[in-house]
Amino acid sequence: MNIAIVAAVADRDKKALAALDRACFLHEEDQGEPWYYAKSGIESFWVKKDRKRIGAISLMQHRTYAPDPRCLAKHSPDTLYLLSTALLPEFRGRGIGAVMKAWQVAYARMNGFARIVTHARIDNATSIALNKKFGFRETARLPFYYDNGADALVMELILSDTKDSAVRPREISSRDSHSST
Ligand SMILES: CC(C)(COP(=O)(O)OP(=O)(O)OC[C@H]1O[C@@H](n2cnc3c(N)ncnc32)[C@H](O)[C@@H]1OP(=O)(O)O)[C@@H](O)C(=O)NCCC(=O)NCCS
Repeated sequence: MNIAIVAAVADRDKKALAALDRACFLHEEDQGEPWYYAKSGIESFWVKKDRKRIGAISLMQHRTYAPDPRCLAKHSPDTLYLLSTALLPEFRGRGIGAVMKAWQVAYARMNGFARIVTHARIDNATSIALNKKFGFRETARLPFYYDNGADALVMELILSDTKDSAVRPREISSRDSHSST
């Protein structure tokens, strides 16, 4: 399939990441602004096919983890939060999303995280099915989470075999969390 996933450089790529969001996400609320991608604590990666940027992944160590990130909650350095999984429409439905999800799970394991958390719009059947395919389960439903009144599902994958690992989470100095995935 010739897919590569490579680190983005926030300062250089923030505008391009925001432009990709505009092409991938229907709802404006889900589209990150350049300043957001330049924030400390957010790491972004390009998904490339034959050297062309076709998607992006953004994630962060979830220092304020709670089922509802609008609430303040305890520091949770063992949790990787998936902020965004975005693929251009013309590349969807051919298994590339599954490659991206497998990469996210591998990233979490390799960096010693014990848990992965993400949010999905209740009507985002593809995203929910993709997460479930990798073992994510629904842990909460947040009513009226999005600006248009849609509910969010909180989806979580416990990486139990990395829990007692000697590898500790890599320090990512995030300052807060983001609500749209
Ligand atoms: C989510 C996204 C990355 C999935 O990428 P994709 O390449 O289309 O996904 P895949 O082709 O790998 O499909 C993976 C699984 O998703 C599910 N799926 C795919 N298309 C689906 C659809 N139209 N309806 C329901 N489930 C679907 C299936 O379970 C599929 O596995 P299967 O083919 O073995 O049945 C892509 O649709 C996307 O970028 N969407 C817009 C942004 C977004 O909503 N991101 C998620 C929240 S951040």
